[in-house]
Amino acid sequence: MTISFIGHGYVGLVTACIFADFGNKVWVIGHTPEKIKRLKEGDPIIYEPGLQELLKKNLEAKRLFFTTEYDEAISESNIVFITVGTPPKKTGEADLSAVFAVSQEIAKHLRKGLTVVSCKSTVPVGTNKKVEVLLNSHKPTGAEVAVASCPEFLREGTAIQDTLYTDRVVIGSDSKEAIDLLLQLHEPLSGKRVITDLASAELIKYTANAMLATKISFANLISFYCEKTGADVETVLDGVGLDKRIGNIFMDPGIGYGGSCFPKDVKALINIGLTSGVDASLLQAVDRVNDETRNNFINKFTAFFEKQPTSHTQKKIAVWGLSFKPNTDDIRQAPSLSLIDRLLKDGYTVSVYDQAASENVKKIYGDKIHYASDPYEAVDNADALCIVTEWNEFKQADLQRIKSLMKKPVIFDGRNIYHPTTLQKMGFTYISTGRRPVL
Ligand code: UDX
Repeated sequence: MTISFIGHGYVGLVTACIFADFGNKVWVIGHTPEKIKRLKEGDPIIYEPGLQELLKKNLEAKRLFFTTEYDEAISESNIVFITVGTPPKKTGEADLSAVFAVSQEIAKHLRKGLTVVSCKSTVPVGTNKKVEVLLNSHKPTGAEVAVASCPEFLREGTAIQDTLYTDRVVIGSDSKEAIDLLLQLHEPLSGKRVITDLASAELIKYTANAMLATKISFANLISFYCEKTGADVETVLDGVGLDKRIGNIFMDPGIGYGGSCFPKDVKALINIGLTSGVDASLLQAVDRVNDETRNNFINKFTAFFEKQPTSHTQKKIAVWGLSFKPNTDDIRQAPSLSLIDRLLKDGYTVSVYDQAASENVKKIYGDKIHYASDPYEAVDNADALCIVTEWNEFKQADLQRIKSLMKKPVIFDGRNIYHPTTLQKMGFTYISTGRRPVL
């Protein structure tokens, strides 16, 4: 089969490489010549484990092609996937301008006969119908188009494995031809098939992300209860999660969810509720608890330092982890940014370390903060260490060395990566999430 992807972000590029690896001819269309040039040279632009190897392999096999031109790609494609961004507007509503703009471009280049156009971008219910109208009104005579919603559930950091070993393939369409062609394309992937209408497929994606965000906010809410009552959040959630009806996956409390999906999709679903007359207060609470989780971390930090005699300007704070989660360089909606903003506003000196995301953070803060080349350099002479992202390399770091390097052995842990008793024995002050502080 020949297929095209419009957009080369996490969803577009990863899925394109995987379908090329299965032996299909795959085009990826982008609008920035410089990026397309880098992709053609085997540079994935984004950091995703295993992606560069997969990209290079399929470029060399001449199954994967990058272009800025719609014509050559669309005119020979059986299926076209739209994988452009749908960022939130100020109201929380998803901005669909890119989806609609590329739909018109696709339409102009459709060949004679049937082409399936499928949206993998997360879009509100009804969007694919609007895409269908646009395609039909701009397509050349003789071209036929069938629209399908085929949402993607991959996570950054584990995108390739998530795609290959997905729990389900969701295909929503009114067209039997579209469903059959998409089933054929997805044949090598594991997971159950969910075949449904356009609206249900569109809503499955939002519902999945909102449900996962709800679990995280619920765990964070319980961590607030633990901090007030002296209970231990890890034990509470373990005790609860052993109930098979509940489970404990995606219930890690911490510093709140970030990234390009959960914050945006929860807000978009709230907006859909508000505009369609559905009570969105449960989701509004999920969103609010996420903000409170970030604030709670910062408040614990400020409360601790307000009691200290010396001024903030004389203090250096180390931050470990800048990406919104481990194994990615993505800093969209990352909790580290809210923390750094606050630290700089309060006059602290900030030294950060992240194995992948420092370059992206440099674009925001420039030389206002120091970028360490390893975790130990970051904590050198620091008054406190804030752990924001649970990269593996922090989990078994040399705590004795850290203690000897720091001016004061104080750790604020937004991801609960250490045991309070271990840190207590070593003489650290250790303030984590939903657990008794070691003071
Ligand atoms: C998410 C969905 O998981 C994926 O199915 C969808 O396609 C895109 O959105 P992603 O944002 O890449 O994926 O990462 P994910 O692993 O889901 O983490 C999202 C955020 O939640 C991160 O900030 C992470 O730190 C946080 N999180 C996750 C928690 O705070 N606790 C948890 O238990 C799990």
